[in-house]
Amino acid sequence: MDGRPFFLMTDPDGFDVSYRINPWMDPASWTPAQAAAARAASRDLRAAITAIGGHVETVGAVRGLPDLVFPANAAVVLDGRVLLARFRHPERQGEEAVFRAAFQRLKTRGVVEELVDLPDGLFHEGAGDAIWDADRRHFWCGYGPRSSQGAIRVVRETFGQETVALELASERFYHLDTCFCPLAGGKVLYYPPAFTPAALATIHEHVPAAQRIEATDEEAAAFCVNAVNIDARIVMARAPESLRRKLAARGYTLTEVDLAPFILSGGAAYCMTLRLDRTSIPAAARHAAE
Ligand code: ARG
Repeated sequence: MDGRPFFLMTDPDGFDVSYRINPWMDPASWTPAQAAAARAASRDLRAAITAIGGHVETVGAVRGLPDLVFPANAAVVLDGRVLLARFRHPERQGEEAVFRAAFQRLKTRGVVEELVDLPDGLFHEGAGDAIWDADRRHFWCGYGPRSSQGAIRVVRETFGQETVALELASERFYHLDTCFCPLAGGKVLYYPPAFTPAALATIHEHVPAAQRIEATDEEAAAFCVNAVNIDARIVMARAPESLRRKLAARGYTLTEVDLAPFILSGGAAYCMTLRLDRTSIPAAARHAAE
């Protein structure tokens, strides 16, 4: 690792929409033209992340595992420790062995240090449902549609960090990363209707009104909350003008990528990536040590 934010992506060659495990997925509407568009979109996303300073490495495609293109769901990673995911739906469980092998190789190279397994009987879909907040220094943990509530304790104990649990209220916003995105500097882009009243109260408790950026129905349905953020730079799917304005007014620079084929699977920029170099050490302390 060379100090650049390190992202994992997956070769989109095996991607399609051939089953339905969330309401966005409609296998009947999938065409070969979309497969070609997906390859271009994945390339564009990679280029956009590289352009804002990220380093991207790619896991190879595996036929029959179309959702392998969403490595955010493969694991939770912090301080070199990798908590491997267990998928709720049998359609994705075949990805577990593929990602385990990929992490083993990354461990051999020293990119990560340790792989940790989830106890039996629990589901957890990785960084899609456990998002590190570098400013508040805790994990935001989604649960309900995919990840088990009981897995949040495992996240807390594995990494020795605080967790804040948020129950997801809707099948359309089934991973936390579809409706919640902490941004550098402490602001949070989120879609309120995706949360139970108790979860919304929890968000309000931790994030003062001035730091909350609410996404509209249109912005959330465009998968814009599912964004990659490095400092003041954000990469996301094509955004409605309303969101462009909101983010510009708060000083963020936006790169939009046409991710339409992946939105047909219920995913976009954030979940097409997995950040491997996050540490719990506050940035100030890290710089002081350099
Ligand atoms: N089709 C995939 C699924 O339903 C999409 C996953 C998107 N990932 C995410 N973290 N939002 O599992």
